[in-house]
Amino acid sequence: MESMGGLKRSHSCNDLAADNVGEVVTLMGWVLRRRDHGGVIFIDLRDRWGLTQVVFNPEVHAEVHTTAHQLRSEWVIAVQGRVERRPPDMENPNLKTGAIEVLVDTLRILNSSLTPPFPLDEEVEVSENLRLKYRYIDLRRPSMAANLIMRHRASQSVREYLDHEKFLEVETPVLTRSTPEGARDYLVPSRVNAGKFYALPQSPQLFKQLLMVSGLDRYYQIVRCFRDEDLRADRQPEFTQIDMELSFIEEEDIYDIVEGMMLKLFRDVLDIELPVPFARMDYAEAMARYGTDRPDTRFGLELIDLTETVRDCGFNVFQTVVKKGGLVKSINAKGCGDFSRKDLDDLTEYVLQFGAKGLAWVKVKADGEWQSPITKFFSDGEREAISKKLGAEENDVLFFVADTGTIVHQALSELRLQLGRRLGLIPKGTYSFVWVVDFPLLEYDHEEKRHVAVHHPFTAPKEEDIEFLEKDPGRVRSKAYDLVLNGVEIGGGSIRIHQKALQEVIFAALGIATEEAENKFGFLLQALELGAPPHGGIAFGLDRLLMILTGRETIRDVIAFPKTQKATCPLTEAPAAVGRKQLTELYLRPDWKE
Ligand code: AMO
Ligand code: AMP
Repeated sequence: MESMGGLKRSHSCNDLAADNVGEVVTLMGWVLRRRDHGGVIFIDLRDRWGLTQVVFNPEVHAEVHTTAHQLRSEWVIAVQGRVERRPPDMENPNLKTGAIEVLVDTLRILNSSLTPPFPLDEEVEVSENLRLKYRYIDLRRPSMAANLIMRHRASQSVREYLDHEKFLEVETPVLTRSTPEGARDYLVPSRVNAGKFYALPQSPQLFKQLLMVSGLDRYYQIVRCFRDEDLRADRQPEFTQIDMELSFIEEEDIYDIVEGMMLKLFRDVLDIELPVPFARMDYAEAMARYGTDRPDTRFGLELIDLTETVRDCGFNVFQTVVKKGGLVKSINAKGCGDFSRKDLDDLTEYVLQFGAKGLAWVKVKADGEWQSPITKFFSDGEREAISKKLGAEENDVLFFVADTGTIVHQALSELRLQLGRRLGLIPKGTYSFVWVVDFPLLEYDHEEKRHVAVHHPFTAPKEEDIEFLEKDPGRVRSKAYDLVLNGVEIGGGSIRIHQKALQEVIFAALGIATEEAENKFGFLLQALELGAPPHGGIAFGLDRLLMILTGRETIRDVIAFPKTQKATCPLTEAPAAVGRKQLTELYLRPDWKE
């Protein structure tokens, strides 16, 4: 093995073109593949920037050519040589360096490599576990590197924008106390304070509010957050927020700042001009039309409420649900009359996962005739009324779910997405933003038998709704907003409560006793009494945003070293057992057994 021995890289593997013909250059990188053609050896040399073909010709440099015979995939080499034009029939128009090659006269082998655990060819499917175990190899694949490069550019764009808008980037503690974002905390035992624990922050929420009390006025941070929750494609136990907080502002100011940030981000990263301002939809409308507070507004297939239409109908299932205060809603899958019995059974199975007790369906035939297991339960008039309400035409399939509002919405919103995917209704390369606003402040938690905050307990109620706090808490709307992009919640925030009296009223509505409030958030309550300005903010999931920008299906693909669905890291094998001594030092029981 050799050292670089004074060789200095002159170009990247993506730099050279016809203009450089005749120059002597030095390149360094990895051997992607080696081809031997009639004694001449061709190597595709790869680095972060691209590929260059380098050539070893025995008639030009016999000794170097002999050494080149040893080269294998992923060996690390330095080459020096002259840039030559490729013969016309050998040009590769798909490659930036496709017009040239480098005829090597000096070769240094900087390192050998074992056969990589999987080929770096983009086409080869590799199990995610293997990719994660050898993540550093996975990240050599240009498409994976491109994700990290885009992530860097996105963060850079956001920093430029927020700096220009007079935000200060301030770091907040990682070893801290529980933050109220509703997930479980990751705890860190304290060695010097027996039996006490730090919590890793679920967000910098409390600190960013305190920074407003400090008078910093505009704060941001690209910050790691930790949540011990069930993992999904768009959820990791540690993830990154673009977190911000502003003073002396209202909702409209937040929308303006954020739309400006997204406009610049999409321009910088994707070269796309987003139409602003973004659409807005209140929570109630989102639930009514899409059954979810994160509607994918790239396509139709909206939910239609039939509750009143079927209130007195002959189908017992529907009637009973309506009498109990539930909902009956429907989706009209236009032109899906060719769905087979198996397709319909599969879709039924699918919605059962989301709590529905069944999925009633109707195939609409010529003259509006119904073909369905439930035809017989309805009178002609009832069938007509339903068909009319749904705009049913020949060859449509109507789907119905009857249940509590929550289940109907869960089931039909998922069915809608599933149909959208199946029917190819979701256009690629479109970015549909919508602000979801006017969330309820509180929701009833049946397990805890009390109201809990929909966003978090520091979110301000709408002034005009404060009067309902005692009589009808479910009716109070908050000054909270989410930004939804293509059906993914990419960010959320709120205007905060900045006066202690109101904060106490909200704690009371949440059934948080004064003592508990003092214990958990006393420091914030105190700060509210020491000159807290009106303030509010928002946080974006950077990983989710990048998932959409890169067109990936999971945030794991845009995180350098993500965790598996079971929150483990196959590369480092974290989490890991620790020794008895360490446990004892931390006052943890060393005799724990599985
Ligand atoms: P919230 O809890 O809505 O708000 O989080 C903000 C955004 O962070 C992203 N996100 C996640 N991304 C990946 N994995 C996770 N486990 C995960 N959890 C959340 C989402 C979400 O929209 N402090 C408040 C913000 C505020 O009020 O200013 C907060 O954390 O994209
Ligand atoms: P049943 O009479 O129970 O066999 O149901 C007839 C049809 O109604 C079947 O296709 C069921 O899938 C469907 N169904 C049953 N319960 C519900 C419900 N709560 N909502 C929608 N469809 C249902």
